[in-house]
Order: sequence, then C-alpha cells, then structure tokens
Amino acid sequence: VSTNHSISYDNRPIGLFDSGIGGLTVLKSLLGSLKHESFVYLGDTARLPYGSKSPATIERYLRQNIQFLLTQNVKAVIVACNSASTVLLDSQTNFPIPVYNVIEPGAATAIAASSNQSIGVLGTTATINAMAYVKSIHKLAPMATVYQQACPLLVPLVEEGWEDDPLTNLVIYRYLTPILNTGIDTLILGCTHYPALREAITKIAGPEIKLIDSAEAIVQVLRRDFESGLLLPGAQASPLQLMTTDVSPAFSKVAARLMFPHLIPALLAVDISVAAIST
Ligand code: DGL
Repeated sequence: VSTNHSISYDNRPIGLFDSGIGGLTVLKSLLGSLKHESFVYLGDTARLPYGSKSPATIERYLRQNIQFLLTQNVKAVIVACNSASTVLLDSQTNFPIPVYNVIEPGAATAIAASSNQSIGVLGTTATINAMAYVKSIHKLAPMATVYQQACPLLVPLVEEGWEDDPLTNLVIYRYLTPILNTGIDTLILGCTHYPALREAITKIAGPEIKLIDSAEAIVQVLRRDFESGLLLPGAQASPLQLMTTDVSPAFSKVAARLMFPHLIPALLAVDISVAAIST
C-alpha cells in the first residue's frame, strides 16, 4: 500500500478464478474498465467442469482456489464462476480479503432490465439446483417470476471452441425453447462460459430478449467498493498472469479468441495442491 498526495494505492493484483475459460468473459470486461488494476487469472482446468459436481466438492475447490490466489498476494478475489459463486453464497467461511460472487450483481442487473419482472436463468446443473438466482432475485424483487433451465452441454462446447457451430445452435435451441415460451423478457447467462455464446443465443432468443451477463455488473460493484474505500485502487497495471491447473493446449487458442483484442500471455501451469495442503 502506498500513498500519493492524499490518495492511497494498493498495487496488488485482483485474483479471479473459474473452472476453465468461462471467467475470461469477466476478466475481459475488467481489463477494459479498470485500466490501473492488475489481474491474476486461474482456470482450474484439471477439475473442470464444476457445474455437474456436488456443493461439497465445489466448496472444496472454491477454498483451494482462493487459498492459492492468496499465495499470489491478491487484494481481492472475484469468483468468476457461477457454480462456485453459488456455493460461496451458501458458505459461512470468512476470508481475509474481499471475495466477490457474480450471482448477486447479475440478479440485480436483470431486475433493473426486465419490464415485466419475468426473468429466465440459464446455468449449470449446480447453479440451477441450488436456485442461486431465484433466491437472489427474490431477495430484491419478491414478486418477480423466475424460470430456470440447466444447460449442462454448453460448457464443454465452449471449452472446445465451438461457439459458432450448427451442433451448438441445435443444443441452444433445445434448451431455450421451453424457457422462451414462458413470456420472459430478460434472460440471465448464469454461467460465465455462456457470454461466449451470446451471438448464438441471440439468434435463437431473438433481439427483443435482454441478455444479462455478470461481467458488466461486477465492474460496477468493484467501482462502488473503490469509491467507498473498501478496496484501494492500483496505481499502475502489471502484466496479466494466466494460470491453469492442467496443461491445456486448446485453452490458449480459445482464450486468445475470447479475449480479443486483448493479448494473452503464455499460460503458466500451476499445482494448487501445494497451497491447499497448508490450509
Ligand atoms: N463457468 C462456470 C460457471 O459460471 C462453470 C462451468 C463448469 O461447469 O465448470 O458456472
């Protein structure tokens, strides 16, 4: 922490993690908006997917990933994964630094965007089964109607780089048809992988359905916390660090496409069990 005139700075990076490349959709938005911040991104590719696992297992991953990011000297962690954010919301654990979930900001944005308070949610099985968005929406807007759809096949399609493929369109069509018949006017992309499918989803949902992703919403939450002094801003950005828990050749290719026009650094494969053992 350093002080310049009356402003205090904290040049430590902000950590983010996801099971794979999905959280890069959040990272991209942060990089575009918070120019003086540095970021460390962890893709837990060795244990992907999270969305089909039980809350107890996802909670273990959540703790280990946060523990690992703490060893990277981060000043805050963004859980850039809805499945892990779901578990975080239900967890009693206190962490020594601010830890942000992506669900509450997405829920608030959807409520503000919807004219008829009829909101759809697409998510992984873990997020949908835990009713994470339903609970967060009803906390703020008890009268809102929420329709959910688990879409377990979408994460592997994105990890495979099939964002623009007839097979992906077909799968999206199959998942979206029931939820589009309910009268929703707003649809939450409740998994950080899904913004990669925004175009394909728009093609099927039509332009009148508002698509909500958490990336923009989390930027607003961070700005609020910088203003209130809960977080101190960085003075100057250091190069982005991208880490994965498995050596994943496909990751770099898909990541480069998702992050465009930002350039991505070489991936570093890390062993997070070393950090986890010391907890
Ligand atoms: N991107 C993650 C999410 O937002 C989960 C993907 C997975 O199932 O691993 O839920």
